Amino acid sequence: MKTGSLKALKGKTIAVLGFASQGKAQAELLRKKGLKVIIGARKNHASWKNALKAGFKVYSFSEAAEKADLIHFLISDPVQKEIYYKFIEKKLIKGKTISFSSGFSIAFNLIKPKKNIDVIMIAPVAPGKKLLENSDSNKKIPGLIAVHQNSSGKAMQTTIALAEALNLKCFPSSFKEEAVANLFSEQFFLCGGITELGKAVFSEMISAGISKETAYLYSFNEINLLAELIHEYGIEGMYSRISDTAEFGSRINAYTLFGKEFKKKLSIKRKEISSGKFAEKWVKEFSSGKKLLKKMILKEKNSLPEKAFRQLMK
Ligand SMILES: NC(=O)c1ccc[n+]([C@@H]2O[C@H](COP(=O)([O-])OP(=O)(O)OC[C@H]3O[C@@H](n4cnc5c(N)ncnc54)[C@H](OP(=O)(O)O)[C@@H]3O)[C@@H](O)[C@H]2O)c1
Repeated sequence: MKTGSLKALKGKTIAVLGFASQGKAQAELLRKKGLKVIIGARKNHASWKNALKAGFKVYSFSEAAEKADLIHFLISDPVQKEIYYKFIEKKLIKGKTISFSSGFSIAFNLIKPKKNIDVIMIAPVAPGKKLLENSDSNKKIPGLIAVHQNSSGKAMQTTIALAEALNLKCFPSSFKEEAVANLFSEQFFLCGGITELGKAVFSEMISAGISKETAYLYSFNEINLLAELIHEYGIEGMYSRISDTAEFGSRINAYTLFGKEFKKKLSIKRKEISSGKFAEKWVKEFSSGKKLLKKMILKEKNSLPEKAFRQLMK
């Protein structure tokens, strides 16, 4: 994707809504590029206080939306709909842009934006901390971009300018593609998949009489080493850098767990995400005060892998 200049953003006011991982990093980067950035947040909550401490002008969501040409949604995905309809929609006059760093709200029709505005996405594929760490280097962070509505005719220029300001190497995508790929991968591979598979392997070792410390050391404790190898050299590059024993055993054994039945189940789960069923569940859970999530976290606090981890960290 070719890079663009910041011209499309010069003289414009950007309201970053939220000041957590992405909000803080992106607001800092945009300010560093000489762009006019204000923050929209809930009064006296963490984002409000932290943004003030970082020297930004902070306003309520509706004041920020009124002042801004571009309103960048960096608040939690399941609350974006509520904030949009309560505070933002009425401030959206022709010529304004709303932007997102995830496809969630648009992809699953939680927000149906007014037709007179531009709607764009700039989704860094990295946590905010990484964006900030990389800001001065030539190495760009990958990011997905998309235009959902182009009322002004200039939505792509705005998108490319934002991506340039955030030092991203961009790949064209869509809100739906980003949302499905992101949710599906984090649930069944990167976050949930790896941990659940690791817990099953850990538990089998415990059943075989292996101590919890040894089981932990040979499972979760080495995860960063393998992740780094794959990140740097790809899957084959990783295999070529581990022992022959590890490589042969992995290639001949691991895939046998993931047969037809497993792939069928995976496909059902992917469809639940694509259809918006998961998004609906998450918005409901979030608005109930994350009751179920809190219960699940509590249950895991004293699980055996957690005890092993604490023991090893002593
Ligand atoms: N984190 C990542 O690695 C990453 C990477 C790429 C894209 N993204 C996307 O970037 C966006 C922001 O993600 P994030 O991880 O930075 O933040 P987050 O942890 O998802 O959300 C935290 C932000 O949401 C606000 N918030 C939470 N509940 C709220 C409520 N009821 N009313 C108003 N504001 C509320 C918080 O404000 P308070 O301080 O007031 O609680 C805070 O500013 C999301 O769309 C996410 O999908 C994240």
